[in-house]
Amino acid sequence: MIYPMLIRREHATDHPAVHAVHLAAFAASPGSDGGRVEAGLTERLRDGPWFLPRLSLVAVIDGAVVGHVIATRGSVEQAPALGLGPLGVLPEHQKRGVGGALMHAVIAAAEALDETLIALLGHPEYYPRFGFVPAAELGVTSPDPAWGAAFQARRLSEAAPRGRFRYAEPFETLG
Ligand SMILES: CC(C)(COP(=O)(O)OP(=O)(O)OC[C@H]1O[C@@H](n2cnc3c(N)ncnc32)[C@H](O)[C@@H]1OP(=O)(O)O)[C@@H](O)C(=O)NCCC(=O)NCCS
Repeated sequence: MIYPMLIRREHATDHPAVHAVHLAAFAASPGSDGGRVEAGLTERLRDGPWFLPRLSLVAVIDGAVVGHVIATRGSVEQAPALGLGPLGVLPEHQKRGVGGALMHAVIAAAEALDETLIALLGHPEYYPRFGFVPAAELGVTSPDPAWGAAFQARRLSEAAPRGRFRYAEPFETLG
């Protein structure tokens, strides 16, 4: 059965619900401080020139926000690129395709906007299904070598740049 949901752009009225999604989604992650880092990061990502409102998407079921993904302006050397994350789904709605729907939608939206590359730090078992590979395979260097194969990238164009990736500024001041 297809799980019924809508994927659409985030509106300002969604912000409290999106905050709650990231608190709940990341609360169970190892080393998390109850999801506060990811929820706070999402707030800061909306507040700067790196924010791309077309690439902040929510999943809605029965009128309620149950998931969120955001991609923001980063760079590879001097070229523009995207950094993806946070991605979160309310625990009671996980494993029903919501995260996958958000990922496919944000990748397609980025491609439609002529973006050339998306990078992320995430579980190496989850993101290959969306076409991500270890970024090093694409000649893209991680901001932190310790991330290894968890730093992944997806090329959207043959014109994708190579070199050192940098996230939007709020990622660099994470506690
Ligand atoms: C990761 C997350 C967004 C996936 O959302 P979801 O709606 O459950 O995803 P889907 O239903 O589309 O896909 C579920 C699949 O992803 C897999 N998956 C989920 N989290 C995973 C993880 N950490 N590592 C590997 N696989 C994972 C599930 O096992 C499931 O696999 P299956 O399809 O083979 O059964 C969600 O689990 C979440 O919010 N987790 C907490 C926050 C987080 O870790 N975000 C990502 C940061 S990298």
